[in-house]
Amino acid sequence: MKIGIYGGTFDPPHMGHMNSAAAAMDLLELDQLFLIPAGIPPHKELPAETASAEDRYAMTALMADGMGVKKRAQVLDLEICRAGEKSYTVETLEQLRKQFPNDELWLLMGSDMLLTILDWHQAERIFELASIGAFARAYDDNLELLRRHAAALEQGYGAAVRLLSVEEITDISSTEIRNALLRGTGEEFLWTPVYGYILQHRLYGTRAELSNLSDGELRAVTQSMVKAKRIPHIKGTELEAVRLAKRWKENEADARRAAILHDCTKYFSLEEQLKICEQYDILLDNLEKVSEKLLHSKTAAALARHVFGADKEVEQAIFYHTTGRAAMSELEKIIYIADYMEPTRDFDGVDTLRALAYENLDRAILLGLEMSVTDIQSRGNIVHPNTLEAIDYYRSV
Ligand SMILES: [Fe+2]
Ligand SMILES: [Fe+2]
Repeated sequence: MKIGIYGGTFDPPHMGHMNSAAAAMDLLELDQLFLIPAGIPPHKELPAETASAEDRYAMTALMADGMGVKKRAQVLDLEICRAGEKSYTVETLEQLRKQFPNDELWLLMGSDMLLTILDWHQAERIFELASIGAFARAYDDNLELLRRHAAALEQGYGAAVRLLSVEEITDISSTEIRNALLRGTGEEFLWTPVYGYILQHRLYGTRAELSNLSDGELRAVTQSMVKAKRIPHIKGTELEAVRLAKRWKENEADARRAAILHDCTKYFSLEEQLKICEQYDILLDNLEKVSEKLLHSKTAAALARHVFGADKEVEQAIFYHTTGRAAMSELEKIIYIADYMEPTRDFDGVDTLRALAYENLDRAILLGLEMSVTDIQSRGNIVHPNTLEAIDYYRSV
């Protein structure tokens, strides 16, 4: 197996890291990439406005998840956990070598690092433990210097060095990004969920009011709360909900906010969800108490209202988006049906449902509810009473 090892302070991780990591996976045909946030890096002091190890780990995990390579990119906490000591690359490599005795290890780094690698702690041991993949811009002024340096390392120290030509290298440092964030810019250099995480946790001097975020900020924050694979569905729901709101002359802004927020707690554990229910006095029936799937609509609704400043209508639309209920408001119907048949959904009958939603919303709701019951029962699950009541109701209107 070919394993890439990419360390850094990741304070914060940015598009430069992400593009370089993706290029390395491609060019070196890596089977696995480990992103390793540094504990206390030996070669530099951390700036005052730095994020905690926990936050840097969480942001790097969001970046790894966003690389779209399933579990092949993963963040490791082994340097962060080496608490108190300075963290040396050679120790990390020794540790990984023990764990992967027969695999090919590739240590990835920026070209500036390659030029100073002989100054690193036990550089020669590093060359024994791993091959070096150094990122270079496709048209780097220093390319000749880098090539000569790589050759010297190979001849003089037996190192295996490969220069990785990265087309889209984002030429910005984490320091510049931190300064930009402080001025209220810099979003364009960050993977959106990482930017959302920074806003939500008010890192690097950002001072976002969670109850008063712009649509873009709210998108970023909610994307930081879910797995990357969920993002296309949430974007699709937003698109569909706004389109339906236009068609049925409902409040487009409310439809947009409800859609952006509707699944924000989808990946929270049962324990976290129950905690939110307790905090906001959400009463649960027996079915809900054991089902994250049913709980997420209630907890997302609570956070929408109490953390993100949504109004009662938006809260209710999120609250009932999984089960539906009798006599739904127009906004509730729009979110229920948009969630069900947004453009990324693909199941038998979805086109009929899509067409119907623009012709007769109540009939589309009934069809959606009936399809959902068939689906739940085919999996051997119990249908929530709200859904059954809703079916009775919409059959009679
Ligand atoms: Fe949902
Ligand atoms: Fe959803």
